Amino acid sequence: MIDIEDRLTFDERSTVDYILALRKRWADTVYPALAQEYRTSGAPARTVEEAAGRLRELSLYPWYSHLERVQQKMLWRSAGDAVISRRADLIDQLNASEGAGGTLTLDPELDLPGWYTDFDIHLQPGGFFSDDLSAYVYEFGARIVMLRDNDGYKFHRLFAETALPDLPSAARVVDIGCGFGKSTRPLAARYPDAEIIGVDLAAPGLRLAHAEAEAEGTAISYVQGDGRATGLQDGSCDVVTGTMVLHEMPAQAVRETIREAARLLRPGGALRFLEFQPTGEPFRDATIFEHAERNNEPFFHDLFASDLLESCREAGLTEPSWSPFDERNHGVSPGGWGERREWHFPWAVLAATKPEN
Ligand SMILES: C[S@@+](CC[C@H](N)C(=O)[O-])C[C@H]1O[C@@H](n2cnc3c(N)ncnc32)[C@H](O)[C@@H]1O
Repeated sequence: MIDIEDRLTFDERSTVDYILALRKRWADTVYPALAQEYRTSGAPARTVEEAAGRLRELSLYPWYSHLERVQQKMLWRSAGDAVISRRADLIDQLNASEGAGGTLTLDPELDLPGWYTDFDIHLQPGGFFSDDLSAYVYEFGARIVMLRDNDGYKFHRLFAETALPDLPSAARVVDIGCGFGKSTRPLAARYPDAEIIGVDLAAPGLRLAHAEAEAEGTAISYVQGDGRATGLQDGSCDVVTGTMVLHEMPAQAVRETIREAARLLRPGGALRFLEFQPTGEPFRDATIFEHAERNNEPFFHDLFASDLLESCREAGLTEPSWSPFDERNHGVSPGGWGERREWHFPWAVLAATKPEN
């Protein structure tokens, strides 16, 4: 597979490096300076709302929030330019994907929901679904968004290794909102004998996911579909999982996705979603809540305002829980996120079990 980063011109490389450095300094220098100004500006806030009010009074706040949004826009511009100028080669590669025995099932009639198509999620122009090249742009951009710390899919591998149960060999695992397969291929590595299915609304993502899996020699079934109604059989799956997908849906759609996951699971099967949760520290949480506006995440607040443990129970699942997830070292970390000087996402795993009859 062509890795676009191997083909960048000197100018393109310089631009990408500049944006990456800007993002790193925003996270490890500007954010701690903002936190320090907050600490010296008065007693700690007791609620997120109070902390958000205090945040807006700080002298560093306009600089901090401007930088977060502007570097995200710069990122998509440079990733988009780099991808579009290599369109022909990249499209050829999507069309020539076979070898590992995986499948790609697209549904041109699939009705994409308005809440999905109406927003440029993460500020990516045209979103993830609108053009054959959208997934290449997203794949490139996501490396920078994660500050290159997720190169090699480190977070996703940690999730597969520490959050998911051991399974018998003839198992079936479904990845809802699989995107371009960044979350799905680590599942195939974790369960080499299992049937792995990736479901996503976006055809461009699935086409790239399929091409990359085939090139790598990993047989995965990719299906265009809605996580709320996958069309898979009742009780046919051992694990239903998803990473970074629930926060992109409105509250009602998240509940429907949990109900669908419960329907798909066999007795004893496991639901596992990697998402974000508030840390309980008002200042930290206020900056995370505001990320929603600055990064065009229209449903981020729905996730934080929803009681997904209750949604799991309503769907007939037992033992629902949220566990903090440390993406740097240990994966699932029941002890909490710990002190973090730099800005970071408070990753968390939603877990629940389908009862044995
Ligand atoms: C932030 S991406 C995460 C992709 C991948 N799981 C990862 O970790 O890189 C969210 C994905 O969820 C998909 N998505 C959003 N709502 C969905 C739904 N109702 N059904 C299926 N896919 C959905 C989007 O198209 C997108 O590919």
